[in-house]
Order: sequence, then structure tokens, then C-alpha cells
Amino acid sequence: GGMAGVGLGAVGAAGATFSLLSGGNANKAAAADATGTLTVPDLLEGTTSDGTTTYTLTAKTGTNEVISGVSSTTAGYNGSYLGPTMKWTTGDTVLLNITNTLGADTTVHFHGAHIPPKMDGGPQNSFADGETWSPTFEVKDEAKTLWYHPHALGTTAEQVVHGLAGMIIVEDDSDASAALPSEYGVDDIPIILQCLAADSSGDIKYNVTGYLGSGLSYPVLCNGTNVDSTTLGFTATKTRIRFRVLNASPADIMTIQRGDGGTLTQIATDQGYLTEPTEVTTIRLVAGARAEFVLDLADAVTLQAVVTTGWIRGGSGTYDFLTVTPEATDTPDDLPSTLTTITRYDTADFAARTITLGQSGQNMTINGSVGTTMDGMATIMTTLDAEEVWTISNGTQLEHSFHLHDVPFQLIEINGEEPTGVDLGWFDTFEVVGGGSIKIAMKFTDFTDDTYMYMLHCHLLQHEDEGMMAALMVMDG
Ligand code: C2O
Ligand code: CU
Repeated sequence: GGMAGVGLGAVGAAGATFSLLSGGNANKAAAADATGTLTVPDLLEGTTSDGTTTYTLTAKTGTNEVISGVSSTTAGYNGSYLGPTMKWTTGDTVLLNITNTLGADTTVHFHGAHIPPKMDGGPQNSFADGETWSPTFEVKDEAKTLWYHPHALGTTAEQVVHGLAGMIIVEDDSDASAALPSEYGVDDIPIILQCLAADSSGDIKYNVTGYLGSGLSYPVLCNGTNVDSTTLGFTATKTRIRFRVLNASPADIMTIQRGDGGTLTQIATDQGYLTEPTEVTTIRLVAGARAEFVLDLADAVTLQAVVTTGWIRGGSGTYDFLTVTPEATDTPDDLPSTLTTITRYDTADFAARTITLGQSGQNMTINGSVGTTMDGMATIMTTLDAEEVWTISNGTQLEHSFHLHDVPFQLIEINGEEPTGVDLGWFDTFEVVGGGSIKIAMKFTDFTDDTYMYMLHCHLLQHEDEGMMAALMVMDG
């Protein structure tokens, strides 16, 4: 069957019962890809002229074996599933020409980037099937791992779980960046993890109606390949490998660890370098979060993802997603003892706000408002250079993943405790446990707009679609 009329947009018209496979796109029993080799997303080549680097992306539908041997209807950027990695350089200007061929409205949001609200790809930047959106901005971020994904009102979960997600690497000229592995696909490796929900025909679910269906499985993917019972392999031609891990799941928490119980050397959180390389046994990533770590390989190391809770699966599971086998003879220098300086905010004079995460029947709320429409959202008004400390208070018994656009934040308190270790880094997405709270501090710089908004929301994608989203306006002083 052809794809005509089976675009991702049909859901808006047909409602929750619509199936992406209902257009006669029968499942094909494909031979399982038995190579077991890690797929590294392509690096997107840009063209540079007059100081502006231009990238071209096309959002399109395709197919992928989300469940091994079953073809699912999916979507990707420039391909069938996920998208190429973009590399941005601090201080450069980028221009993206993004064409929508999904058959539905979409946006492309640059998660974690410090860019003007008109370029941020939030719900106000929605563009239709057949249109091209061309945001342009200066890269103000320093070295870090970001990602891009759709963010249109009410369709974020559907579009992201079908494969619309890609990584962004921001490079800078810091000493730490010079000292760390940075050869893409060789010793600098992107890892996009997802725990999805799909039925036996491969139909990927994205809302409560779907999740309540029977016969669901919860496939775990690494860079788009199912790792439920396959461990992917990567041959390391360098002794030191840097991994950038993104949890692009709609809901679940992914905890990364070594199969042998050893340590990972974490170097970055969501928003860039830690002050120093930090030995950890686990890296816990809520939906939307990223981390970077390095491994100095002596022997093969298997990396595991422990998938927990969320609300779409019945339990937890441990997945051996990657075995890294060294075939290298180089001896890397010691890691720098200092990666960056993080000046902790003194919040004594910061303006205080409370952001309450709540629930109202089938809908999710922020400060009591159901943010399923721009008009229905709570709006936080602030001013350029404002310094604020927010208490994110979870009035539900559900887990949430709190995400703020525009500026990085520091954690001041996690459930009443002072943060330690890697929680002293910079974040844009952080766990708020059921009934718990976090206190975060941030400073609004560079960008004002009295018409366009940034967003703050839960990164459990269905919660976002069900209204756990508010608008943020940064105004001239
Ligand atoms: Cu990754 Cu507002 O989202
Ligand atoms: Cu939530």
C-alpha cells in the first residue's frame, strides 16, 4: 500500500483511534538485521558562506523495524527514522531550511539551545505540510549535547515516537574541548536511546488510548536499532571513547551503567561540562535529558540501559545495548583535571516563583492551567537579565521530567536536599518525583520578545500534549 493519506497528520482529524498503518501499509516480515553493529547517525554537512552555515533537513515518513522483523510506519529527518547529527560551533551563525513532508503540521525545536523564541521551534513556529521553515540564529551555547525534535501543539508525542529526533553537538574552542575525543563516529559517539510502545503489528503507540491496548511490547532502541535481544557492537580504534547519550523516550527513565559494575567517567550533563571528570556507577536520564561520559578501554565493555517506570510499561528491564571492543594501541593523555568553572548562583536576591505540576481529570496542568492551547496555558512573564529561583512542586503522584527552554538552570535543592556530584552541573531537563519538588535557579539573558514565547513543560511527551506546558515571555526591562 502507498503512503497517500497515511501521513502523520491524519491523527488530528481521525482522533485517537487512527492507526498509522490503516492505509493498507501491510507489515512485511523482513529478515532481522543480524549484523548487530551500532549505527551512527550521519553527520549533516552544511555549506558555509559569508559566516553562515546552512543545513537542509526534510521531515518525512518511512519505515523501520522498531520490533525486529516487523515493519513499522515511522518518520525521520532526511531518512526513515531519527535524523542526522548536526555540529554547531559556538559563535557561528546557522541557517536551517527545514521542509515538512509529513502530511501534518510540525515544528522543529532545538532542545536546550539558547536562541531567540521565534527560532526556538515551539508550538508558535508550526509550519504545514509542503512548507519550509528557515530559522537562523547565532550559536551562543558552549560545548554541549543538544537535540532537535517536533513540538507542535498536541502532536509532539506522536511525531517524536515515530522517529523524529536527532542530536546536535555544539563545539567550542575551550581547553576541555581540545583535550576530549571529538572525532565523530570514531571516538565521539552519539547514542540515542528510546523505549517505545508498539503492538505486534508494529503500530507505535503514543497516547493513553494506545497504551491501554492489549498485546503491547516495549521495544528498546539504540540509534534506531532494536536491542531487546541483540547487543550492538562497536569496534573502538581509539583507546578513549566519548559517548553522548540522549534519552529520547516518550516517558521512561533510562539509567546507563557498565555490565561489569565498573565506573563511567562523566564529563557533561544536559548543558555542558562538569567542573571535573566525575566517576559514577550510573547515569540516570529522564525523558529528554542528556549526559556525556568517556571510557578508557582496556578490555571490552558492555553498556546497559536500565529502563524503569514511566507509566507506559509494567515494570523495569535491563538491556545490554552496546559492547565496545578495543582495537587500539594509543595511550591517551590524562583527562584534564578541570573541564570548566561553574560559578554557583547565590540565590539570596533572586526572585522566587512556584511552578506547580498538577492533574485535572484526563488533563495535566501547570499552575492549574491546562496548556493544550496557547490561550489555555499559564504564562510566566519575566524580564531581560532577571535572576530567578523556581520551586517546581509536583502535586501529582506521577513522575515528571521538567524542561525549561531558553536558559540553563542550576539545581538548588532536590526534594529538600542540596545537590551533590554531577547534580552540580547545568541542566535543562530534570526529574521531579511524584509528590516531590526541585528548586532551580536561572538567569534570563540576551533575548526578549513581546510576541513569541518559550515553553516550560513536562518532557513525558504525553503529559506535554495533555497540557503540562506553560509559556514563558522574556520582556524588555
Ligand atoms: Cu525537548 Cu520543549 O522540548
Ligand atoms: Cu509529566
